[in-house]
Amino acid sequence: MTSDSLVEQARAAALSAYAPYSKFSVGCAIESVDGEIVLGANMENACYRLGICAEISALTAARQAFGLDKVGRIAIAGGHVGPDGTLAGAAPVTPCGGCRQAIYEASDLSGIDIEVVSANGDGTETVASTIRTLLPHGFGPASLKDAGS
Ligand code: THU
Repeated sequence: MTSDSLVEQARAAALSAYAPYSKFSVGCAIESVDGEIVLGANMENACYRLGICAEISALTAARQAFGLDKVGRIAIAGGHVGPDGTLAGAAPVTPCGGCRQAIYEASDLSGIDIEVVSANGDGTETVASTIRTLLPHGFGPASLKDAGS
């Protein structure tokens, strides 16, 4: 359990993950610059490659609730659901490469270097970073400015 409520909301969201194949439940909570919060969790599929990550799930909800350009802070937590029904696990979950790219898209739209907090399942360890640290020299909407019309 951490004192960061966004992390606790990510841990709680992981309990709604659909991860019957990996058994690795991930939750994501996104806070807008105005303090609004949306949640997401990973959702796997019998056709394994069609599974989606918790961050993509939450970014989709953020788009609906307040827009990608209002994303301010993201918390991610992952692990397994323990016998007591809470999320457990030792290692903080940092976003995969594809999710970094999706977060970068939101960051490039707003110019905000979005804060990303990665937590372990137990909620005892967090690693704070920003998207521009996690994805240096990223390619985003601004990179397309030299495209033809
Ligand atoms: N997963 C996420 O939801 N986010 C990440 O950043 C890393 C991985 C999910 C995908 C898959 O359902 C499970 O964790 C195991 O890779």
